[in-house]
Amino acid sequence: MQRTLVLLKPDCVERRLIGRIIGRFEDKGLNIVAMKLIRITPDLAKQHYAEHVSKPFYPGLEAFITAAPVVAMVLEGLEAIQVVRDMLGATSGLKAAAGTIRGDFSSSRQMNLVHASDGPDAASREIDLYFQAEEVLDYAPVL
Ligand code: CMP
Repeated sequence: MQRTLVLLKPDCVERRLIGRIIGRFEDKGLNIVAMKLIRITPDLAKQHYAEHVSKPFYPGLEAFITAAPVVAMVLEGLEAIQVVRDMLGATSGLKAAAGTIRGDFSSSRQMNLVHASDGPDAASREIDLYFQAEEVLDYAPVL
């Protein structure tokens, strides 16, 4: 079993797509083991996107990600990190294939609806950034 950090970004929340996007993860068989609605601060944004802070698009990215609440969650499942990345599609909604979440709902590079960890190290770091250990719940779904 693997865990990955997923953020439903401000565009997802403002467009009232939370339920539909979470439904796709549940339909796939991923388990939600932690979840909360939060407002990302500029400081948290800089920690989360540390590798992008010096890039030209960062100021716009920070303004976007702090503009409205996000849903932060930890999804668990077999090969969850790659499974979720594949479900999201390419970073840019314009390039993402039809059938992927971004391909179906986004036409933007920045407002691409969902963030997901891109590897095991990032998943561990990002889960710790958003959740205390006791907020991530261990349980075995019946199905
Ligand atoms: P995410 O998967 O959260 O990781 C970094 C984010 O930066 C990405 O999704 C986009 O929201 C944003 N991003 C990446 N590249 C660009 C870009 N060239 N211009 C604007 N935003 C970008």
